[in-house]
Amino acid sequence: MKINKLLVGLMMSVTLVAGAAQAAELSIVSGDTGNGLAFLRSQLDKFEAETGNTVTVVPMPSSTSDQFGQYKLWLAAGNADIDVYQTDVIWAPQLADQFLDLTDAAKDVVGNHFPSIIESQTVDGKLVALPAFTDAPALFYRKDLLEKYNKEVPTTWAEMTATAQEIMDGERTAGNPEMYGFVFQGNAYEGLTCNALEWVKSFGGGQIVEADGTISINNPQAAAAIDMAATWIGTISPEGNLAYQEEESRGVWQLGNSVFMRNWPYAYALGNSDDSPVKGLFDVAPLPAGEGEGAGSAATLGGWNVAVSKYSPDPEEAIKLALFLSSPEVQKERAINQSNLPTIPSLYEDADVLAASPFMANWKAIFEQAVPRPSAPTKIKYNEVSSLFWSAVHSTLSGNGTAAENLEGLEADLADLKGDAW
Ligand code: GLC
Repeated sequence: MKINKLLVGLMMSVTLVAGAAQAAELSIVSGDTGNGLAFLRSQLDKFEAETGNTVTVVPMPSSTSDQFGQYKLWLAAGNADIDVYQTDVIWAPQLADQFLDLTDAAKDVVGNHFPSIIESQTVDGKLVALPAFTDAPALFYRKDLLEKYNKEVPTTWAEMTATAQEIMDGERTAGNPEMYGFVFQGNAYEGLTCNALEWVKSFGGGQIVEADGTISINNPQAAAAIDMAATWIGTISPEGNLAYQEEESRGVWQLGNSVFMRNWPYAYALGNSDDSPVKGLFDVAPLPAGEGEGAGSAATLGGWNVAVSKYSPDPEEAIKLALFLSSPEVQKERAINQSNLPTIPSLYEDADVLAASPFMANWKAIFEQAVPRPSAPTKIKYNEVSSLFWSAVHSTLSGNGTAAENLEGLEADLADLKGDAW
């Protein structure tokens, strides 16, 4: 009897343990823009149905800089409450030690993705995260307004500035006092680093810190590019643009109050949603080029990935979730619903994807030439590099010093930060 009871007890606990292994309670953290969190939830519902696991989303602020600060603290403290992190493309070298190596788990699927993205998520041979989507920005423009004023889609910043001013003035005279020419991400955060890198690179002014670790930002082309952007504030762009992140720019644009906008592809699907005042009225083009030697259109490489915390109590199920979120099925849904760029080349030829987001046919080339931020050469110091850069740019945009003055100070600060080596 006693033995029987013992046996039953033992069998029950074996069942419980086996049950627990099959049905994990996972959590994922994600900040996102637009209705990204609702989309994530819809995909997690499918994962739950397929695996029997449950997944809680811990929502975060949409600013990647704010997310990074929080995640660094949690990971440093060995937080076991979060299993899966949605990670920005620039974070891999800085957080590599805190995430599991996914090389083995993903060996059958890594070949599906663009090799450059897998490379960006590989640190010293360790695959730190799996790609969910890639990002390369666009110049959003109002087709109806360009037509009304008989203007071409601008291919240089100078043309963009002139067209923005003319249409803004015309529309204000015609009765819309809220009209602006151009909105972008001018807040002091990672998004400004992306915007300003595009201006600098488009003027032939380099990439802040080059692939070999050289600090290149203090040069006349870079200064000319940032001074140009400073002229926009209070003219074609609202003063408030100095505080805009992605969603604030989209807010102005989607209400119909800007001729142009710099933003990531996610704003395409939202702008064409049924309740959007600009539905059907806009299209996207590559960002304009600067002037001078080496000038050309430049897009900063962005993108998001999924990583598994090494403190996760359910690493196997968490890895399943990471694989699911980077799968072709979820990426296709993303491309259609969220207009996020896939990391799987064949999806750029998928008829359903192209029907929903026709611009994607041209965006594969733009993504392939996109400029990386210097997160690989500056390694664990990237966040500080970026924050020094965006601060120098934000000061210039705010009228505190010229770009040349601020870039000279930035060069000295970067040299101090670098020391003998990055
Ligand atoms: C987008 C990009 C990301 C970038 C961020 C800046 O989310 O995908 O890489 O860091 O914008 O705001």
